Amino acid sequence: MRENYFIRTYGCQMNENDSEKIAGVLENKGYEAVDEIEEADIIILNTCCVRENAELKVFGKLGQLKQLKRENPELLVGICGCMMQEDHVVEEIKEKYAHVDLVFGTHNLHYFSELLEEAKQENSPLVEVWDESKELISDMPVQRSEDHKAKVTIIYGCDNYCTYCIVPYVRGQERSRPAASIVQDIKDLAADGVKEVMLLGQNVNSYGQDLDMEIDFADLLVQINEIKDLDRIRYMTPHPRDFNDKLINTISNLDKVCEQFHLPVQAGSNKILKEMNRGYTREEYIELVNKIRDKNPNAAISTDTIVGFPGETEEDFQKTIELYKEIKFDMAYMFNYSQRSGTPAAEKENQVPEEIKKERLQYLMDLQSEIGAEKNKELIGETVEVLVDGPSKKDPSKLAGRSRTHKIVIFEGEENLTGEIVNVMINEAQSWTLFGELVEKSE
Ligand code: SAH
Ligand code: SF4
Ligand code: F3S
Repeated sequence: MRENYFIRTYGCQMNENDSEKIAGVLENKGYEAVDEIEEADIIILNTCCVRENAELKVFGKLGQLKQLKRENPELLVGICGCMMQEDHVVEEIKEKYAHVDLVFGTHNLHYFSELLEEAKQENSPLVEVWDESKELISDMPVQRSEDHKAKVTIIYGCDNYCTYCIVPYVRGQERSRPAASIVQDIKDLAADGVKEVMLLGQNVNSYGQDLDMEIDFADLLVQINEIKDLDRIRYMTPHPRDFNDKLINTISNLDKVCEQFHLPVQAGSNKILKEMNRGYTREEYIELVNKIRDKNPNAAISTDTIVGFPGETEEDFQKTIELYKEIKFDMAYMFNYSQRSGTPAAEKENQVPEEIKKERLQYLMDLQSEIGAEKNKELIGETVEVLVDGPSKKDPSKLAGRSRTHKIVIFEGEENLTGEIVNVMINEAQSWTLFGELVEKSE
């Protein structure tokens, strides 16, 4: 009898949300989550293929599972997610990883319950991956990873086809969920004690364009802002090209929408931005940031950047550095360009050598670390509102939480404040973290 399960999730929050659905199905069937992979009777790897590194990690893990399967032939090994939408990956698994029992993709996740039952009966591996979404994923039970915060997917897929990116090929076309069903989900979550929702999509501000109804992302935010007992609304990821004035104005008027703006810029050179098919220039991006800061003086702006896109010269890279110095991001995720087969940029001849990419990335990371620390120091002496996540992982004698701007705040307090909103006066700041003292409970 199989009883315990372990899910390992790679990649973005959409994948984390999918894993919560897989966990929901398993919990409904009576399985229990375990912290140690060795104790599991069912292991699911939910994979990401956005960069080569992510794929290498998955294959490494899959290799390790061979031994576990040898020790326990009853173990069921399942693998799913974005990597499974690539034909060559599925072929490789079939050829080299015979210990895998179940393979499924992003488009048939909602059949996980049935697929699992079928796989349990079969001796040979069950491989079922769909090329496209034939239906919008119907309701799946969700096992939340936290009590006071929840992720809610509002739009699946991506139609942007940035030339470096594999996501549109593995996640399919944009499909918005009906607003009524999103709002109902969030009402239920708020009634269940959830204080903060994270609205998810690869491009949240193209929400609604594919629906019959006249509704856009700003309209959706207005509806969600009205939900009683909900305190905070976040969203990930907006596309700078689609961040229009209506959205900026709406957000600054809605009290629950947090002053956190994650705007992936990707590059500072107009030549590279054009080749990436991002749909905005450096000047337009800067103007957008200025407008947002005008309306929301407390706004935190964060970004994603790719270093070493094909054809990126030293001069192009300098444009990225200048942009970082000019904007002063609160936070940035920086990546080396990774060739993804099937994407236009991967076919280009003028690939940047690995050594140069590494050097540029290190330079940019060092720069951002200084800028981040500088931005955070501006907050010393200020009181910020914090939603408490629980004991800090690094120092469990202290509490950790997030400000409205999504900065990590560490302070002393009782564990029973977990899930509460408190005020913290900041007295120390580092590149990634703020430290402070509890002031008084807000409410
Ligand atoms: N839809 C979001 C997130 C996409 S994936 C967006 O548009 O920003 C998250 C980040 O991974 C991207 O912002 C980009 O910076 C990075 N990324 C995507 N493809 C990549 C590639 N081939 N190599 C390196 N980084 C990549
Ligand atoms: Fe990829 Fe661009 Fe879509 Fe983001 S917007 S998921 S980077 S194609
Ligand atoms: Fe990775 Fe898929 Fe997300 S490729 S970044 S897990 S959408």
